[in-house]
Amino acid sequence: MLSLIAFVAHAQKMEKIVYNGIPWFDEQGTIVNAHGACIVEEGGRYYLFGEWKSDESNAFPGFSCYSSDDLVNWKFERVVLPMQSGGILGPDRVGERVKVMKCPSTGEYVMYMHADDLKYKDPHIGYATCSTIAGEYKFHGPLLYEDKPVRRWDMGTFQDTDGEGYLLLHGGIVYRLGKDYRSAEERVVSGVPGSHGESPAMFKKNGTYFFLFSNLTSWEKNDNFYYTAPAIKGPWTKRGFFAPEGSLTFNSQTTFVFPLKRGNDTIPMFMGDRWSYPHQASAATYVWMPMQVDGTRLSMPEYWSAWDMDKLRPVNPLQGGKVISRKKIKFSNQAEWKEENGQIASNVKGSSLRVSFKGSRVAVVGETNRHGGYARVNILNKKKERVYSSLVDFYSKVEDQAIRFITPVLPEGDYTLVIEVTGVNPVWTDKTKTIYGSDDYYVTIKDFVIL
Ligand code: GLA
Repeated sequence: MLSLIAFVAHAQKMEKIVYNGIPWFDEQGTIVNAHGACIVEEGGRYYLFGEWKSDESNAFPGFSCYSSDDLVNWKFERVVLPMQSGGILGPDRVGERVKVMKCPSTGEYVMYMHADDLKYKDPHIGYATCSTIAGEYKFHGPLLYEDKPVRRWDMGTFQDTDGEGYLLLHGGIVYRLGKDYRSAEERVVSGVPGSHGESPAMFKKNGTYFFLFSNLTSWEKNDNFYYTAPAIKGPWTKRGFFAPEGSLTFNSQTTFVFPLKRGNDTIPMFMGDRWSYPHQASAATYVWMPMQVDGTRLSMPEYWSAWDMDKLRPVNPLQGGKVISRKKIKFSNQAEWKEENGQIASNVKGSSLRVSFKGSRVAVVGETNRHGGYARVNILNKKKERVYSSLVDFYSKVEDQAIRFITPVLPEGDYTLVIEVTGVNPVWTDKTKTIYGSDDYYVTIKDFVIL
C-alpha cells in the first residue's frame, strides 16, 4: 500500500473537528488505536493512552500513547507498555482500561490496568511506572492492598484536586492510593448501592462527585448510568442515565471523563468506546462529547456526530459536500444489492460496489443495525493502486443512520472507492456464554459525499 503520510498531516492540521463513530487518523495516516482510554494533560500537551487493539485476537499486544496540542490531531508516540515475556501481562493475557496519573509526591507517572486471562477468569489490577509521560513504562505486576493483589476487572482512576489518587473498580468499589500511588491504601467505598456496573469513571464539578458506569453486556453497548455524592466516601445516590434512554449511550461505553478547560470553566468531556469485536483495531471507534452538569444532574442530551473542539458546538461535515449520483455507482453484480428506503444494501459475501471521484476526501453515509456486518473499504488511485484499506462495522443493536467512514485526506486527484461485503460480522460470547452481536452480514449505504 502506498503511503499517505505527509498529506494527511498537512490537511488535518487545520481541522478541530471531533468525528464520533468513524476512524481517526494519526500523523502517519494510520488509524488511531487507543481504546478503553484516558487523557493526561502535561505541559500544554494532551496524552492519550489506550488499548492498542489487534484485529486477530483479544490477547494483549500493548498500550499505546498518542499526543496532541488540540485533542483532535493525534501523533503516535509509541507503544508505552508492550506485552511482557511472562506474568499477568504476558502472552495470551488480556490488558484493558489503561489509566495514567502523575503522582504529585514522587513526580512519577503511574499506569494502571486490568490484566486477565483470555476467559476473564483471572482478574488483577496491575501497575507500571515511568519518569517521563510517554514511556516506555516499567511493569511492576499486581497492585497490592494489605499485601494482597487487588483481584478485580473493570477499573478507572480519579485524581482529586487535593492530589489524592483513587482506583475505581466495577461495582463502585473505590480505593485511595498510597502517597506514591504504588499501592492501594484505604478502601474508601465498598461499592455503591445496587450497582454491578462496569467501566467506572469519576469526575468532580462544583464540589459534587459524579460516578459513571455501564451495565454488564460485554462488548455490547447499553444505557450507562451515574451516581452523585458530596464526598468520595459517599453517600452515593443513583441518578439514572446521562444519555437518552434506549440510545445505548449513543452506542458507546464509558471509559473516562476528561476535564476540558475552556475559559474559566471546566467541562466534563465524556469519552466512550464503540467496540467492534473481533476487529477492534480497524473498526472500533470513539464517542467523545461535552457533558452538561446542573447541580447533581448530568446529561448528554443529543448526539453530535461531529463537533468543533474549540467552540464545543456540533457541525455538519457534509455541508457543502457533493453527493455522488446513484447512477454513477458501479456494482459487481447489481442483483445482489437491494434498494429500500433510499438506501442500498447487500449481505452477499464478495459483492462490491465502486464509485470514482475527483477530490481529496469522501464520506460514506449509511445505516448500522442488528443485521450489519463488516465492509472492506479500499481506495484506489488513478493507476488502480490501493492507497488505503480498512474494515468498517455496519452492526449496531439500535439502528443508526450516520457517516460511517470518511477517507483520510488524500492529495487532490482521481480515485475509486470500493466497498465490499466481507461476509464477516461481529458475533461474540461473554463468560456466561451469552451470545451477542449481529444476525446477518448487511452493508447498508445511503450516499457518498465528496467533501
Ligand atoms: C466489558 C468491559 C471491557 C471488556 C469487555 C469484555 O465491556 O467493560 O473492558 O472487558 O467487557 O467482554
